[in-house]
Amino acid sequence: MKHVISILTLTLLSHMLFPQEIGEYFPDQQLTTVGAYYYPEHWDESQWDRDLMKMAEMGFEFTHFAEFAWAQLEPEEGVYDFGWLDRAISLAAKHNLKVILCTSTATPPIWLVRKHPDILITNEDGTRYDHGSRQHASFSNEYYRTYSMKMIAELAKRYGEDKRVIGWQLDNEPHSTVDYGDDAHKRFRRWLKMKYKDIESLNHAWGTNFWSGTYNNFNEINLPKHRQWGMNLYQRLDHSRFCDEETATFLDEQAQTLRRHISPQQWITTNFIPMYDARFIGADKELDFISYTRYMVYGEHKGIGEKGYRVGEYSRIAMANDYFRPLSPLFGVMELQPGQVNWGTVNSQPLPGAVRLWLWHVFAGGSRFTCTYRFRAPIYGFEQYHYGIVGPDGVTPTSGGIEFQQFISEIELLRKNVSLLHQPEAYLKRKTAILYNPDNTVAIEQNKQTQHWNTEAHLLKYYRALKSFGAPVDFIREDTDFTAYRVIVVPAYQQMSLELINKLTSFAENGGNLVISCRSGHQNELGHLWEAKHAEPIYGLIGSEIAFYDLPQSFDPGIVEMEGNMYSWNSWGDILEPSIDTESWASYQGDFYAGKSAVTFHPLKEGSVTYVGADSQKGDLELEVLKKLYDRLEIPIESYPPGIIVEYRDGFGIAMNYSDSAYKIDLSKDTEILIGEKEIPTAGVLVWKIN
Ligand code: GAL
Repeated sequence: MKHVISILTLTLLSHMLFPQEIGEYFPDQQLTTVGAYYYPEHWDESQWDRDLMKMAEMGFEFTHFAEFAWAQLEPEEGVYDFGWLDRAISLAAKHNLKVILCTSTATPPIWLVRKHPDILITNEDGTRYDHGSRQHASFSNEYYRTYSMKMIAELAKRYGEDKRVIGWQLDNEPHSTVDYGDDAHKRFRRWLKMKYKDIESLNHAWGTNFWSGTYNNFNEINLPKHRQWGMNLYQRLDHSRFCDEETATFLDEQAQTLRRHISPQQWITTNFIPMYDARFIGADKELDFISYTRYMVYGEHKGIGEKGYRVGEYSRIAMANDYFRPLSPLFGVMELQPGQVNWGTVNSQPLPGAVRLWLWHVFAGGSRFTCTYRFRAPIYGFEQYHYGIVGPDGVTPTSGGIEFQQFISEIELLRKNVSLLHQPEAYLKRKTAILYNPDNTVAIEQNKQTQHWNTEAHLLKYYRALKSFGAPVDFIREDTDFTAYRVIVVPAYQQMSLELINKLTSFAENGGNLVISCRSGHQNELGHLWEAKHAEPIYGLIGSEIAFYDLPQSFDPGIVEMEGNMYSWNSWGDILEPSIDTESWASYQGDFYAGKSAVTFHPLKEGSVTYVGADSQKGDLELEVLKKLYDRLEIPIESYPPGIIVEYRDGFGIAMNYSDSAYKIDLSKDTEILIGEKEIPTAGVLVWKIN
């Protein structure tokens, strides 16, 4: 990825690759900018002027066109119609709205589908998708790729030098297409050949001596049937890696096609759903930056308290910010829910204030823009009943629309108060990294050993604890310079190469502090268990042996005792045997291994390694362990209750309340409050200037 960042964010990013190019895409003084999707093709042309004028009057600064409009852009093969888009762009410009254009690839037109039906995804059971929805074509299909690039090249030729167009969004919420078509088979075999070079290496990596799985050549290999019981784990893992790589290269191919015709002033991004098992997020090589989409209220997340489902789960935006920012120092949010959606299990109204709260939250995490899906509520189509910034009459702002308007005017106020002193010292001192590899998550999830295990839930226990400390958190990868952090949390890192173990060891020996959690280091980078004692290669690092691990039944949860307090667990417990120079911080109770260590602390030269062997049910053990460690390291931490998030950027402190009661924040008397009150109500926001 080509990183393009601004000076204000540079100091935050000293550990990252220096950007290949410093752009002026989103000027620092602007802080953030807000836009809305508009689909001219959905509305009578006589209304476009009125709608775009309204959008501008409400304070929006950009709009977003042509997302699912391939049929309108190329109604017949090779016949392009840009007239309507020309007129829409002119009207946007008339109202000072900048334009993001989309590549429309998520919706191939019927002529293409009927001419080459194999562009449609073939499912594992041999059935095939059909025209009539979106994202039903396969990234592994050569025709789909070729026709997509032809159409994109025409779009780029038409608008690549157009100053009214600021940038491009590729596809829509790209995610891996799992296709069992002929091209997918061919490409998978080619991919395997590139990866393993010879069939013996593949057989070794896939452990095919087990159950007579041996292959003689690459042409014998098919895409694995995930529903077939006992299917080779490594073949499945490689298949999911392949699918993710197809997504990344499809995006890169789109970006390269655009780049041949567009001016350097136009940027290229795409809008990922924050999926923590997706390897394609950040894996592209050609995008200028990445953005994400977020929906907070759709029936799946309880939040805090009885009405929490109307506010949403507080870690969802927080974690997306902290995951995307290290991958892409300049990042934005391409879709933020403006109100009720139509596709959830229960499409409740968000609590009044919640939409504005989310807007502030993406801003607080460093986002440089926010766009909303969508300006007008659709009156027909699959997304009927979805809210917009204005309702189905096309003119009346919805409550979410009014909250967007409020946020935009509040940002205007902030723009007058930008300062270069961006983040307080104490905040920076508690900056913490989480070492993360989505490949690990996929591997664990396909071979869990206990149905009580949930990798994302495990990660969240550490993440939430860190946010309660008011810590800025960066999700980092193995190739990151670890020395930018005092503490790195390494949760459930099942696959570790010896190289990584050495890197972690030297980080700790040189003064770094690691918190490694259960089920780490069992396997090498191939995903094979070590031919050694269980997880033996990490014993020197953690200062303990792992005698065995236990996975209790839900009706018989285990208990861990730490400093007189009891913590229950019932998914995974590593039973530890600390070496002489390692402290035991907690022990198991009430089972045949009662008294054995559950948490150990290993001073390692200048630094330390804390190993947390149990995955507690509530995340309370993880919180206590981290508190004890930060206390010992004299890192200043806060103690915010669940649902309170405090971040700093560009000279502002921003506190947000997702909890079910008001929260009074402790700020010094002379703090200059810009927005809100010290007592922050549910779904409320407080913004102040840093002195
Ligand atoms: C998103 C998608 C948008 C729109 C929206 C509706 O996931 O990217 O195109 O469908 O959902 O809420």
